[in-house]
Amino acid sequence: MDKGTKKDYSKYFDFSDAKIVSQEDGRTTYKINGRNIQINAAPSYQDEKRRGKEDIQVLAFGNAETEAAMEQFRELNQGRQHYYSITTYGCQMNEHDTEVMRGLFEAMGFQPTEDRSQADVILLNTCAVRENAEDKVFGELGHLKGLKLEKPGLILGVCGCMSQEAAVVNRIMQKHAFVDLIFGTHNIHRLPHLLQDAYFGKEMVVEVWSKEGDIIENLPKKREGMRAWVNIMYGCDKFCTYCIVPYTRGKERSRLPEDVIAEVRELARQGYKEITLLGQNVNAYGKDFTDREYRFGDLMDAIREVGIPRVRFTTSHPRDFDDHLIEVLAKGGNLVEHIHLPVQSGSSEVLKRMSRKYTREHFLDLVRRIKAAIPDVVLTTDIIVGFPGETEEQFEETLSLVREVKFASAFTFIYSPREGTPAASMEDNVPYEVKQQRLVRLNELIAELSLESNESLRGQTIEVLVEGQSKNNPNVLSGRTRSNKLIHFEGPKEWIGEFVQVRVTKPQTWYITAEAVSPPERAALSHGA
Ligand code: 5AD
Ligand code: SF4
Repeated sequence: MDKGTKKDYSKYFDFSDAKIVSQEDGRTTYKINGRNIQINAAPSYQDEKRRGKEDIQVLAFGNAETEAAMEQFRELNQGRQHYYSITTYGCQMNEHDTEVMRGLFEAMGFQPTEDRSQADVILLNTCAVRENAEDKVFGELGHLKGLKLEKPGLILGVCGCMSQEAAVVNRIMQKHAFVDLIFGTHNIHRLPHLLQDAYFGKEMVVEVWSKEGDIIENLPKKREGMRAWVNIMYGCDKFCTYCIVPYTRGKERSRLPEDVIAEVRELARQGYKEITLLGQNVNAYGKDFTDREYRFGDLMDAIREVGIPRVRFTTSHPRDFDDHLIEVLAKGGNLVEHIHLPVQSGSSEVLKRMSRKYTREHFLDLVRRIKAAIPDVVLTTDIIVGFPGETEEQFEETLSLVREVKFASAFTFIYSPREGTPAASMEDNVPYEVKQQRLVRLNELIAELSLESNESLRGQTIEVLVEGQSKNNPNVLSGRTRSNKLIHFEGPKEWIGEFVQVRVTKPQTWYITAEAVSPPERAALSHGA
């Protein structure tokens, strides 16, 4: 790493020149560009990087103060109905956080709206993983400025991973001063209080905890459809050199197995058909427990006993994928035969610079062990092309690994430098056009393998969980197989949410056309916990 280009991130929150309006209870209100900004806590790169030894507490959501804040909004909503709108960017973790915020809004008497001009509160739940995700949010803020000018009472908030970046918060405070609320990924449970400050205080409120907080259980959640996300752990300690997530999401903290299992049982009781266990690196589950030896394989083995038809998980890190987990997954049942296993690169040299902590050979060996134990497994992956200094030969090693593993599909990305991460200061001599060409070449190979994988199902009868109607044709339903393949077939909308057996008639590259063999089985309709 070139030390000379290292930045001093503390400069982003040096407001020594700004006028202090007030200071109380650890909150400072500044006047910046004519707007009062109340800072409860500001993001700090140094703190986000730190991994403390202190124990994480598991707390129940809510206390008398929170209840009073929520009651104040319920009363407000009895006087006049207020509406909220949340736009979610990025990964399933953000989708899940949005479900929690929706739960909180609705517990405060707000109603959802798709129409932003009707909304009283608009939140952007943002993603920081690549620069283009951030550009989208700044573009969106530009659009929302007009709405805010028309409706000054509108509360406009930015939350999620971008809020954890000091540079972003600073840019919003300086250049998008019409934003009313910025809060971080560890502050979601504080929404009632933050909203109260923003709504009644009329100042811009900034609260971004850099150090991860405790695990808060019993937060309300508003889920939709027949599939549910279940968070099993928060944060990431892997610090892959390109990745901002360990900074924005804090250190690894696992929820207690009894809390996870109770939530899954409750979802089964409510009739959910599919759950996805979520974590930035689910294979590290339980590593942080000090009072017990309990890992992801043990959790999956316990969830196998719960009467929910399909259980998925994402995302796995190849490094922590142990033999016990493979053994448990091989038992099948509700544990589906699809594993998303991000490889990132097929070159051991690049993997080393990415600090992935496995080699090409380790990865291929893991794949061999998985395929031996689960013969019908479908593997998908994430790949980054154009990592700093990636040579043509190293890129070709990625192509050959992809071909050898035969991934059924992949999320592929051009490397995007993230400020503050080690890779951002690595020398990069690969021209952008070359990176783009590599992405095209990789995507062509993935398309070929995806078609090959779909083609292998021709004529077979498979189970589909019907998710909805096709956007283009209401007679066509779409759903997913256990291996997460997208299926289109004709059927009535009453089948949405049900399991249907279909025969594959026309495999295509990104989806499969099929025909229903028989209507949904009643047995599948009445599973219990
Ligand atoms: N540039 C490009 N892709 C990235 N990812 C994470 N960080 C970056 C980055 N800086 C990709 C990885 C990860 C997926 C969620 O996003 O492939 O698995
Ligand atoms: Fe990022 Fe690596 Fe953690 Fe995944 S395992 S979230 S890529 S640091």
